[in-house]
Amino acid sequence: MAMRISVIGTGYLGAVHAVGMAELGYSVVGVDVDADKVAALARGEAPFYEPGLDDLLATHVAAGHVTFTTDFAAAADADVHFVCVGTPQRRDGLAADMSYVEGAIDALAPHLSKPCLVVGKSTVPVGTAAGLAERLLKTAPAGADAELAWNPEFLREGFAVQDTLSPDRLVFGVTSAEAEATLREVYSRTIAAGSPVVVTDLPTAELVKVSANAFLATKISFINAMAEIAEVADADVTKLADAIGHDARIGRKFLNAGIGFGGGCLPKDIRAFMARAGELGASHALAFLAEVDAINLRRRQRVVDLTRELVGGSVANRRIAVLGAAFKPDSDDVRDSPALNVAGQLYLQGARVSVYDPKAIPNARRIFPTLPYAESAVEACRGANVVLHLTEWQEFRALDPAALAEVVETPVVIDGRNCLDADAWRAAGWTYRGLGRP
Ligand code: UDX
Repeated sequence: MAMRISVIGTGYLGAVHAVGMAELGYSVVGVDVDADKVAALARGEAPFYEPGLDDLLATHVAAGHVTFTTDFAAAADADVHFVCVGTPQRRDGLAADMSYVEGAIDALAPHLSKPCLVVGKSTVPVGTAAGLAERLLKTAPAGADAELAWNPEFLREGFAVQDTLSPDRLVFGVTSAEAEATLREVYSRTIAAGSPVVVTDLPTAELVKVSANAFLATKISFINAMAEIAEVADADVTKLADAIGHDARIGRKFLNAGIGFGGGCLPKDIRAFMARAGELGASHALAFLAEVDAINLRRRQRVVDLTRELVGGSVANRRIAVLGAAFKPDSDDVRDSPALNVAGQLYLQGARVSVYDPKAIPNARRIFPTLPYAESAVEACRGANVVLHLTEWQEFRALDPAALAEVVETPVVIDGRNCLDADAWRAAGWTYRGLGRP
């Protein structure tokens, strides 16, 4: 009989994982404490925007391959339980809030009365898994037969379905050969299709995830630091990135300078990593991450300052079009979004801001209800003194600069992502300003 899988937590990670497991041929139940989210998923509707998810979800819900519920008892007869709940930054500091992970284990454990594998996928501080294993041992009726493993998830929003079905690597943190065998079976199709597997212990598996994100954040802040230098040296950071990116040891990916990184992962993960290093008495090892964070936050300030400069010293009552609210394109996620942060800062300084995003406005409204939102890019730009391009949606790259020049008050654009065609915009009469470019 096919393996049965439960997925605890059906947010950006868990919902995609549940559907991905159904696609791999398993019978899946997704469990979440959020009744609205569960109801939407059970109807076959994704509660957030992720390319490709809607179709796959609808298909597998209709076929009965995946069900969703708020009742943890429904997970009882699964063979493998994936814990996919969030670990946001705590309100009182840099550390990760572990209450959802602990809550998930506490809610699940009493139902585990047969041998099973509980697999953590959430991003957690190193050392968490060992503690959870003990918690499981104490609370689960199956005792030691409910084993814990760690299998970090590396999916990128906007590519989540693709990254789930063909991950570029699988990491199995295990404490027994049986656990490794179970995970190899779960992912047998993915492994057969070529995803490499790294088998290791629990702490290494936990660390792989946070160190990968720390590396990516560092790479982005490195190029953004070069952008700061390029700005004072009259050099072009995009050419610099192309040139150093040709070195295979460096690589061109994640060298796009601009407004900096955001989202539900990189910012909070580097902060939680620093906090954990401190607890372990090794803060010196990650002191550089504070600088990575600071460089990143300076980028938002740079866009605000440049905007002020371009509208004559004060943004008060100036009309500012903000193209983009999501932290990245092909996502409706506005968590720690640089675009929304910049829009908010300008608004609070008295600017007449108009924000447009193809997918993220409902989420942006929830976080920042008083910001004025527009129905289209053209509407946002109508009468603008300056246009800020802050999330690189294809829709914005496809805008016709000549047509847009007709609707703005002054044709001035700040390309916060350095990806508009500068020559085309200039040829259409625009003052084009990139970040870290002459
Ligand atoms: C990230 C990791 O890539 C993923 O492996 C992990 O599982 C979760 O965190 P995600 O947050 O979805 O994924 O987005 P990612 O594509 O990594 O981009 C993060 C941020 O960096 C975005 O705000 C993006 O705009 C920014 N970025 C990315 C840059 O500013 N420059 C770049 O060159 C690349």
